[in-house]
Amino acid sequence: MVEITRDVVIVGAGAAGTTAANELKKAGLSVVVLEARDRVGGRLWTDVVDGAMLEIGGQWVSPDQEALKETISELGLETYRRYREGDSVYIGRDGERRRFTGEIFPVAPETEKEIVRLIDVLDDMVAQVDPDRPWEHPDAEALDRVSFEAWLEEQTGDQEARDNIALFIAGAMLTKPAYAFSALQALLMAASAGSFTHLVDADYILDERVVGGLQQVPLLLAERLGDDVMLEQPVHTILWDQDGVTVLTDGGLTVRARFAILAHAPILYPWIDFTPALPRLKQQMHQHISMGFVIKVHAVYDRPFWREQGLSGTAFSPYEISHEAYDNTNHGDERGTLVGFVSDRDADDLFRVSAEERKARILESLSHYYGPEALEPLVYFESDWGAEEWTRGAYAASFDLGGLARYGADLRTPVGPIHFACSDMAGAGYQHVDGAIRMGRLVAANIVEAAHR
Ligand code: FDA
Repeated sequence: MVEITRDVVIVGAGAAGTTAANELKKAGLSVVVLEARDRVGGRLWTDVVDGAMLEIGGQWVSPDQEALKETISELGLETYRRYREGDSVYIGRDGERRRFTGEIFPVAPETEKEIVRLIDVLDDMVAQVDPDRPWEHPDAEALDRVSFEAWLEEQTGDQEARDNIALFIAGAMLTKPAYAFSALQALLMAASAGSFTHLVDADYILDERVVGGLQQVPLLLAERLGDDVMLEQPVHTILWDQDGVTVLTDGGLTVRARFAILAHAPILYPWIDFTPALPRLKQQMHQHISMGFVIKVHAVYDRPFWREQGLSGTAFSPYEISHEAYDNTNHGDERGTLVGFVSDRDADDLFRVSAEERKARILESLSHYYGPEALEPLVYFESDWGAEEWTRGAYAASFDLGGLARYGADLRTPVGPIHFACSDMAGAGYQHVDGAIRMGRLVAANIVEAAHR
């Protein structure tokens, strides 16, 4: 048994936890970061699989993500743009593969009109939503009672228009079916990226990557903390009162501190034994939050063969298992990498079949976009965050129907000395690394203020 004492103990060495720890240290407080895994980074994980460098977790940076961009530049990291020259591919409801440029998919003129109209309607509504306080929207209660799918059905009878608009929030962002979250939750998702138009624009939302991988952000932040980051220390118990916390880990550590920060996905709070228990409202709230579910598929080829066909690699279809896919070739790499995403019910279905069949069906889907060469990658890998004990889904967590208006305002409220920070409770940058950094900064500022009270 080892016992240590700090001003602040931080549970989780992801982007939020490592940011908070650095901010607190700068303010003169002593910290320790306890991480369950044997590595730093959480949902950021850059690894080499069969000789190919892969971004197993988060990777893209968009222009509005100011907190992340500041951090990247302060850490001296370089970025590069996603490959986007040439035509994109869309597969419609009729199963036809069509090439296109721009943001709007090549659909029938009346469907295109509906898509453009719905984007305008959503942009107007999103403009009224403060991503830090979506529950303050004048119609928050009503918007939180109706699923995004049902809301879309009220807006238009055009199925293909609905399927496409739903895709941008459901399959592509919250990675839940559009009937499983509310219209208010959808507005928050769009507001967190500045507008619905931003979500529709892949060139905006998936703009840049970091040379060498995005995991370097938490790794470099952790490096500055030295021995104050402790790996393989899953926190299982937190004893607390108004004066502080005692935190116990499976690694045999006992940490006493004035404050604690839980810097991990909120769905994991119930895995910690709190004495006394968290307030009943928090316990209820945590039962109304769940992770999305997505498989990120990496397929590496001897060359980016799709570029020879004049394709950018960008591909979409609400009717394909892999509903979106991109050129994900690494900076300076001669080989070509495609990345595809399989979300919610499609992911459920594919985990009901063997690994061989899953791979065959996913590659078949990629071949619908890029042709038969896509069937034969040199390296194939599925990021499966649903199987990760310390994450349990991807990309992040969201409320079920009614949960955001009912509980959202309390998600970040501290309990005595225990504070909360994670991308999954951010306003701007919600569900993204930018949001994790913003939450890390915010919680650190709140603790510095409380420490000096
Ligand atoms: P995160 O989950 O990263 O960190 C929490 C840490 O706490 C983990 O290291 C965990 O092990 C640890 N922990 C949990 N319980 C513990 C316990 N009891 N004791 C000790 N430690 C414990 N974002 C983006 O900006 N661009 C993108 O392109 C993508 N794409 C993407 C793809 C995939 C496949 C995923 C999974 C995610 C993304 N994201 C993304 C989302 C992004 O990666 C995510 O929002 C942030 O990395 C989350 O950072 P946090 O620090 O908030 O949590």
